[in-house]
Amino acid sequence: MTNILSSKLFARLKYEEDYLDHHLNFEVKKGQETLWFMEKIRWFQFSFALLLQVGVLLFSVYLWEQKALTIGQFTMVTSLSLLIINDARGLSRRFLEFFEYIGNINDGVSIMIVDHEIIDSPHSKELQVTQGAIQFKNVGFKYNDGKHVFKNLNLQIAPRERIGLVGFSGSGKSTLINLLLRLYEIQNGSIEIDGQSISEVTQDSLRDNIAMIPQDPSLFHRSLLENIRYGKIDATDDEVIAAAKLAHAHDFICEQPEGYASLVGERGVKLSGGQRQRIAIARAILKNSPILVLDEATSSLDSHTEYEIQQGLENLMKDKTVVVIAHRLSTISHLDRIIVFNDGEVVETGSHDTLLQNQKHYYHLWSMQAGGFLPL
Ligand SMILES: Nc1ncnc2c1ncn2[C@@H]1O[C@H](COP(=O)(O)OP(=O)(O)OP(=O)(O)O)[C@@H](O)[C@H]1O
Ligand SMILES: [Mg+2]
Repeated sequence: MTNILSSKLFARLKYEEDYLDHHLNFEVKKGQETLWFMEKIRWFQFSFALLLQVGVLLFSVYLWEQKALTIGQFTMVTSLSLLIINDARGLSRRFLEFFEYIGNINDGVSIMIVDHEIIDSPHSKELQVTQGAIQFKNVGFKYNDGKHVFKNLNLQIAPRERIGLVGFSGSGKSTLINLLLRLYEIQNGSIEIDGQSISEVTQDSLRDNIAMIPQDPSLFHRSLLENIRYGKIDATDDEVIAAAKLAHAHDFICEQPEGYASLVGERGVKLSGGQRQRIAIARAILKNSPILVLDEATSSLDSHTEYEIQQGLENLMKDKTVVVIAHRLSTISHLDRIIVFNDGEVVETGSHDTLLQNQKHYYHLWSMQAGGFLPL
């Protein structure tokens, strides 16, 4: 359903229909096979029960003729055995259903019992962020069977330092953030916040201390007020509105038919990409964690709106350790330090001015974005 736009854009509805038909036909065929199999067993049971009933009846008649049974015994034996045969048949039918249900339960349970990949160790403590220093020590990581994203990454972020991460698409910027949030487990090395390894603290306390504005924020199909309040569940309405104002979301929210009470649609489809980003920024402002991460958080905003939000973001970044990922270099050029990533390795680091003087990777990226013109 989420890819319906792609199917329409490429006029591939017929293709998708055939694709689904293929799977549906397979399902129908297997379903028919099952039903036929069960039907055969039922017929088998029915025929044998019938045979047994007729057999018992004939045999009793035969015994009665031989004077081996009295009329009373005859009635008793035949009615009892017919009763037993019928019940036995009912029981065997239940058995058939029983195994069908076992199959269904097996299917369901096998989905439910998959272990959580990342679990808190029993000795894990709450993360205490006093300064906000982040350290990646010899980190090695790859997704499942993929190639290594990081081989031996060393990176230090000083307390309350504001750094910008740049690098080509696919160089591992978002992965670095995912590792910091412990959404994936690293294979080598350690990641520490204020000297505490993130694998030894509870995941809730870790994520409580990091506010993240993701590349493509998705919202709940709830009111705008509730969506912003998600950053701090006990925030008052006034606090929510103040955060929305800082994120420049207040104006467009007031233009919605029901203001802050408007529903945003599944995943937030009723808002534009930039509006969703501003809601995500307001959320992070409310959350007010000591560590702030922005992964292309302003990429869907026009330069004008981005400029307007900048003040709100500046306020938000005050006294925090901040990591900003951006392809638009003007977004990060004013930060304390810029780290250039290539293929999971840090290839250059320094302030905007130093990197421009170095005339290497960052210089090339910058001059390309400035259209060949270098405002030195
Ligand atoms: N969930 C995943 N499973 C497997 N491989 C992944 C997954 N996410 C990313 N990768 C791979 O990891 C590498 C780094 O991806 P990452 O998303 O960190 O790049 P990025 O620097 O954030 O790029 P962009 O600027 O386009 O956002 C890529 O080669 C990608 O194919
Ligand atoms: Mg990314």
